[in-house]
Amino acid sequence: MIHEFSAPFSNFVLSLSDAIDIASPDIASHQMRTAFIAWKIAKAAGLSDGEINNIFLAAIFHDIGALSLEDKTRLHAGLKNVDINAHCILGEELFSLSSLLMPSARIVRYHHRPWRSWDEVIGHPDVIGAQIVFLADTIERAVLRNEYILHQVDDIRTRIASLAGPTIHKDIVEIFMQVSKHEDFWLDMVSPRLYSLLLHYGPFKKNEIFQKDIFSIASIFRHLVDFKSRFTATHSTGVAQCAVMLSQYLGFTDSETTQMEIAGYFHDLGKLAVPNSVLEKRGKLTKREFEIIRQHTYFTYTVLSTIGGLDLIAEWAAFHHEKLDGTGYPFHVKADKINIGARIMAVADIFTALFENRPYREGMAMEQIKKILSAQVANQALDKLVVDILLDNFKDVAGNVRARQKESEALFEMKFAKIKDQVSSAPYA
Ligand SMILES: [Fe+2]
Ligand SMILES: [Fe+2]
Ligand SMILES: [Fe+2]
Repeated sequence: MIHEFSAPFSNFVLSLSDAIDIASPDIASHQMRTAFIAWKIAKAAGLSDGEINNIFLAAIFHDIGALSLEDKTRLHAGLKNVDINAHCILGEELFSLSSLLMPSARIVRYHHRPWRSWDEVIGHPDVIGAQIVFLADTIERAVLRNEYILHQVDDIRTRIASLAGPTIHKDIVEIFMQVSKHEDFWLDMVSPRLYSLLLHYGPFKKNEIFQKDIFSIASIFRHLVDFKSRFTATHSTGVAQCAVMLSQYLGFTDSETTQMEIAGYFHDLGKLAVPNSVLEKRGKLTKREFEIIRQHTYFTYTVLSTIGGLDLIAEWAAFHHEKLDGTGYPFHVKADKINIGARIMAVADIFTALFENRPYREGMAMEQIKKILSAQVANQALDKLVVDILLDNFKDVAGNVRARQKESEALFEMKFAKIKDQVSSAPYA
């Protein structure tokens, strides 16, 4: 494809992993540190590059199925009274949506399964992968964040040694004892420079990720953001579909339209850092709560714009709360800095929010939406051309947005909503 775009693979996965763990200092870098430990063990185990890569990808997103910040924090703090299976099952489900992540899906599914529950040989790539990620996650969670790391090493190594056998295969524990013998292993793991270290020396350091895989991973992240809450379970899907149609009406090329769809999937990425108690609050937000909301597009922008190669997507995604007169947030850019793609996204976001059903209210009808959008044009918030095109094609856009949202809703209801309720009392599986 002539216009195919790409991004540095390493930076892409590290940035998105960071975005998941950005939510709280208690879990910051949890997945990145786990991936570092898993990578070191997998290399020392003499696995092939392909196997090492699959384990690294599983580890860097291993808690992707823990959707809310509350779930993530509970999992990280310890496993008592927490449903462990739900995030493993949902994680596998999400990984299976991308052909790039699919080979790591089973590792994610079983990253909490003890060795005694396996009836396959340790030499199977999924089994050794799952055991390595299980061990790496356990080690990372054992590290106390407010204590100097080298004062904790003996204690952590003793605790991990005691897991050899029923919990973790003894050979893997033995490899860990070897790789963790020296101070540099521990200093690297907790280093604030771990991101750079993995960027320059980790797996994928020379690889690029191309359009098809960027698209499929963005599509997963849309579910991650949306499924955090039943209130917004199909929002990014609707925004992306609306933005795609508006950009087609405005003559965007195929490649630009694809970038627009990706931007739509990512537009609320920063909401991963907003607690559900704020996202799901009914009624008016307090000043302090709204200040928390304001950071979401900031995070969307910093995460995407620092990957490299995705600058246009970053702007289109992250400027959707900016207004033409500069009164939006958080960048307060004005019309001259808000390009047509970002203007489309702003309209798509508001349209979708008004049009979609929420658990506490029905979506609005055309006349009401028309009124609100026209008032926003008059207020110098939204672009007139874009709003006019939407209103001229209202039925078409609304029909397609609804159809795409129905697909996402089916996935949410069939898999996610049920799994979250069902497995809460299930034992290890
Ligand atoms: Fe986990
Ligand atoms: Fe974890
Ligand atoms: Fe937003």
